[in-house]
This record gives sequence, structure tokens and C-alpha cells, in this order.
Amino acid sequence: MANRTRTDIPNSLQEHWMPFSSNKDFKKNPRLISNAKGIYLKTHDGNTLIDGSSGLYCNPLGHGRREIIEAIKNQLEKLDYTMPFQQGYGGSFELATKIAQKTPDDLNRIFYTICGSTAVETAIKIAVAYFRAKGEPKRFRFIGRERGYHGMNIGSLTVGGIVNNVKVFTNILMPGVKHMRHTFLPDHKFVKGQPENGEELANDLENIANEVGGENIAACVVEPIAGSTGVLIPPKGYLPRLRKICDKYGILLIFDEVVTGWGRTGSAFAAQEFGVTPDIITMAKATTNGIVPMGVVAVREKIYDQVMDASPDGAIELFHGYTYSGIPVAVSAALAVQEIFEKEDIFNRVKKISSYFEEGLHSLKDIECVESIRNYGLLGGVDIKMNLKPGKAGFQVYKECYKAGINIKPTGDALIIAPPFVCNKKNIDEIIEKLRTGIKNYYKSIRKS
Ligand SMILES: Cc1ncc(COP(=O)(O)O)c(C=O)c1O
Repeated sequence: MANRTRTDIPNSLQEHWMPFSSNKDFKKNPRLISNAKGIYLKTHDGNTLIDGSSGLYCNPLGHGRREIIEAIKNQLEKLDYTMPFQQGYGGSFELATKIAQKTPDDLNRIFYTICGSTAVETAIKIAVAYFRAKGEPKRFRFIGRERGYHGMNIGSLTVGGIVNNVKVFTNILMPGVKHMRHTFLPDHKFVKGQPENGEELANDLENIANEVGGENIAACVVEPIAGSTGVLIPPKGYLPRLRKICDKYGILLIFDEVVTGWGRTGSAFAAQEFGVTPDIITMAKATTNGIVPMGVVAVREKIYDQVMDASPDGAIELFHGYTYSGIPVAVSAALAVQEIFEKEDIFNRVKKISSYFEEGLHSLKDIECVESIRNYGLLGGVDIKMNLKPGKAGFQVYKECYKAGINIKPTGDALIIAPPFVCNKKNIDEIIEKLRTGIKNYYKSIRKS
């Protein structure tokens, strides 16, 4: 390549142990990205990919945004780091105020973390701290959901419900966790938007409460839309019913909005989109347009107040935090992102283009190996029929899509499509067309073999 830089083609691939990857497969046939601009990525071997998954759902405003780059540069020139414990700097407070203006109701107290996993871990610890402060130390059980994904630290891993993620680690999971069933029913295949049936699956929470005692449960943790399992849309009435059951038993409701937060559904948060207010919201990814790691936990004022009031003046109220909680470089990126959200009316933009994306995505139904399609906002899941063993088809289609010029995220045999929010109709057409090519090429290749 003409403009070769250090990261284009490294001398050795062996030393880097890649996360969530087939290292052996990759190292035989690497896929390296060397440049990114707008919604396009350039590969090391000169191919161009449209970013059909916004990276890992985290670059919704596109790549190389000048406003964000400038904000980071300016911040680094002025203050590159300051200790976040017992001292701070103005930006993190300014950002907290901005975030609190966008969260629903009184989820106005903002705790910064490093990523989505640490946001969920923090939400779990805040829930425990809240009930301790309230004089209910027996409430330490958490309820997650099958096929949920909440990250990779022990607490977030335990409340998650993707079997492959936990099977090596079962001996070290957090105690006291139970799971509700997931919300995908056989007749939800090819349903557009929210399925009509399945509300009663929320009763699983009530059944668990009756089994273990509702007074022992601290919180129920769910993604409003289960993203990383392949995009499962909540049936109509399901989330409101979960809320009601939580209220009945005094259980906190935690929405993990690491994927759905910041506009993916067409509202700032899925909480507003589905009209259900949780007690805690976790977010990450789009908060900084994915450029600098950052996680955020928004909590109801009463939770914060309870924890504050339980401590004597001058004491640390919550023994929790990270070296990189709300550091200047992340905050400066997040503030620039907030400005873009407002200036470009991003959430409404998503809302307006969602039905076009829905039509495009469901047009893939005619491909023989497509087993199911689901969507909401700018988020879609396409299941590919299993090929000999789970996960094989998904990985092969992903590789064919990469060759066909589109980046998507496979998970098992599901493909996750999460177009950038700045896409126009032509971009959506290109995403669907390349997806079609990738899936069809995969299907041709298995029929030949
Ligand atoms: C809903 C949800 N929660 C938490 C996480 C974990 O985020 P991170 O990878 O930033 O730790 C993810 C990651 O995809 C996610 O989808």
C-alpha cells in the first residue's frame, strides 16, 4: 500500500492474544483495518467496507469526526489526566448534567466507569450498597435473563445468559443469580418491530420471586432489546409488566442500555422509547462514539440519597471507582458527541430512517438459508440456518460479508446489523445489497461443498 504505516501490516501476529476471536483462524488469514472515514473502512489489502455494525455498535456518528478529534486534542493540550478520587475537573460535572438531561425521570445521578462491563458491575454494586444503606442487607440476589449479554466481568458475566460465555467459568460465578427465560418465541421469526405475544414471559420474575423470596432480590437486570445474542425485541407489554413486578416486590429494575442507549431505538434511551422507567441505566459505546473507552451508570436520585445519608460526613460513601472513571479525554469526547446529537438531531434522524431499514432488512427473507429476521430502530438481527454445528454458519457468512464489502457482527449463527445513525437511504441500500451478496455467496459455497 502507498501510505503504509506501522499498524497496516505488522511483522508478527503471534504475540497479540485477540479478544473474542478465533486467533488460529485469524492468524492464518488476517483481516486488518488500516483506515476509517465516515461510514467506510479500508482493509490492509485495499478493500473498502461499509460499516454495517457501527464497529461494535459504538461508532454511530461515523469515523474521523473532526469535532470529536478536535475536542480530544484540545483537552489533551490543557489537562491530560487528573485523579478522579477526592478531586476532579469541571468537564465530568458538565457531562453529568448533560447526561441527566437526557435520561428519563429522576435518573439524575451519574457514575463514570471504563466500559459497558464495568458499568454493569457498578450498577450491581450500587444496588447492593443501596439496600445495605436502606437496612435490607439480605437483598443481594440478582435476576438476569437467558441470552442476555452484559459484559465480561464476573458480576456482568453471571447475570448474562449466553451459555458459551460462562461454561469455562461456572466455578467462579457470582452467587445467588437466577435467570428468566429469553423473549424469543418460535412465531417471532420475521416479525417487524415488537412481537404481539410473549408479554407473560415477564411472569418468570414473579415466579422466581416466589421461589427465592422477593425480599431477597436486589435487582432484575435486562437489556430492553437483547443485542449481542442476535437482537431480540421485547414483546409488547413485556417491559411494563417487568416494571410492575419489580414494584410489587421492591426489586430495582436495571436497564442495560450499552447498545440501545444514545439513540439506537430512535429515542435517547429504550426506556423512553418503550415508556418504561428503570431505576438504573447503564451505557457505554456511543457515549464517546466508541473512540475513547467510557461507561456510565445513571441512577435514581433516591438511590444516591440513600447511600449518601447512610455515611457520616467526611467518609467515602461508596467504596468503588476506577483510575479511569470520567477522565478528561473520555469526557471531552462525550461532550463533543452530545453536541453532535443535538446539532444533527440524531435521535429523530434514527426514528425517521428506521422503517426504511426495516423494509430493506426484511427483504432478505427470500434467501433460503435465512431463518429469521428481527429489527427495531437501527438495529437488526438475521439468523442463518445452522450448518453442522452452532456458530459455523454465522462465522462463515461474516467472512463472506467482509469479502463482499460490509462489516457486520456475527454472534453464533446470528448476524447483527447496526448501521451508523448518520446513514442515508442510499447507505442503507448499500448495506442491504452487500449483506445479500455475502449471505448468498456463503450459501453457494456450502451447496458446492
Ligand atoms: C448490553 C451490553 N452490556 C454490556 C456490554 C459490555 O460492554 P464492554 O464490551 O464495553 O465491556 C455489551 C457489549 O457489547 C453489551 O452489548
